[in-house]
Amino acid sequence: MEGIAIMTSGGDAAGMNPAVKCAVEYSRSLGYKPFLVFNGLRGLIDDNIEEAKPSAVSGIMHRGGTVLRSSRSKRFFELESRQVAYENLQRHGITKLIVIGGDGSFRALNQFYEDFKVPFAGIPATIDNDIPGTDYCLGVDTALNMIRQNVDSIRDTANSFSRAFVVETMGRHCGYLAMASAVTSGAEICMVPELEYDLDSIGERLRRQLEEGRNFIIAIVAEGCNMSDYLTRWIHDTLKMDARLTILGHIQRGGSPSVRDRLMAFKFAVAAVDSLHRGETSNIMVYRSGSYGTLPIHKVADAHASVDPALVALCKPLCK
Ligand code: F6P
Repeated sequence: MEGIAIMTSGGDAAGMNPAVKCAVEYSRSLGYKPFLVFNGLRGLIDDNIEEAKPSAVSGIMHRGGTVLRSSRSKRFFELESRQVAYENLQRHGITKLIVIGGDGSFRALNQFYEDFKVPFAGIPATIDNDIPGTDYCLGVDTALNMIRQNVDSIRDTANSFSRAFVVETMGRHCGYLAMASAVTSGAEICMVPELEYDLDSIGERLRRQLEEGRNFIIAIVAEGCNMSDYLTRWIHDTLKMDARLTILGHIQRGGSPSVRDRLMAFKFAVAAVDSLHRGETSNIMVYRSGSYGTLPIHKVADAHASVDPALVALCKPLCK
């Protein structure tokens, strides 16, 4: 029986567990022997690899994070470590890999493919939603709902106390989480790396609204702007309002996967197993303009992610 190993790598994201469960069960139904790699790339080197018994993936669907745990391994950059990883896979009879993670993990697995010709399929998973070639990455919907829930409760205090709140979202260099959150939570200000902002005109707009009776302000700022502290002080000094900063941090990465993340996880997992079953060697599962498909790794690795222009357009009025 041919072995197929499933692993998670990089930042954890809600939806990883449903993807693991589905990949294990679907690959078994096609006649493969599924394996689990624990601790990400580090686990490949350290042989944290076990055959996936059905019990290992039961009761994991609703859990956030990754039951396989994850890592960002520097050792995998060394050929000697990759050689050890290859020997581990050979010993277990594993000939194919499914990696659930971000584009850095896909690039690492592609290097491994170039070294040892072990085919892999990548499932995009990161709350940052910054993997080129796909409109959606696992974890995004759950993170957005977590942010929405937090902003909704912050707004209660903002309104009760006539305060301004600056809420910082994650996303590394990508403003997707901040933009989608600003639009869907009715924020007054949105700052993201993708958009220029004009504090003078933001000030004029908000001063006018405050004169007309507005009593609170919500600003959503992407961490990649590095502007949260500054904006909080600016609101206090310029608009003469009590202003507070909330950095949501890792709260937005955890939590039980939403229905959307579970469904997307199943679709990506089935597509990944099918891709390997068809004999494809290094494809990434993608969801673009409403359709599922695959892209060769080089198309993902060599491209830049960009945020949906329609969403960017919705945010522009919040930057001026
Ligand atoms: O890539 C996911 C992410 O949560 C980013 O949004 C964030 O910048 C980073 O990981 C945080 O990394 P760490 O968990 O290592 O602090």
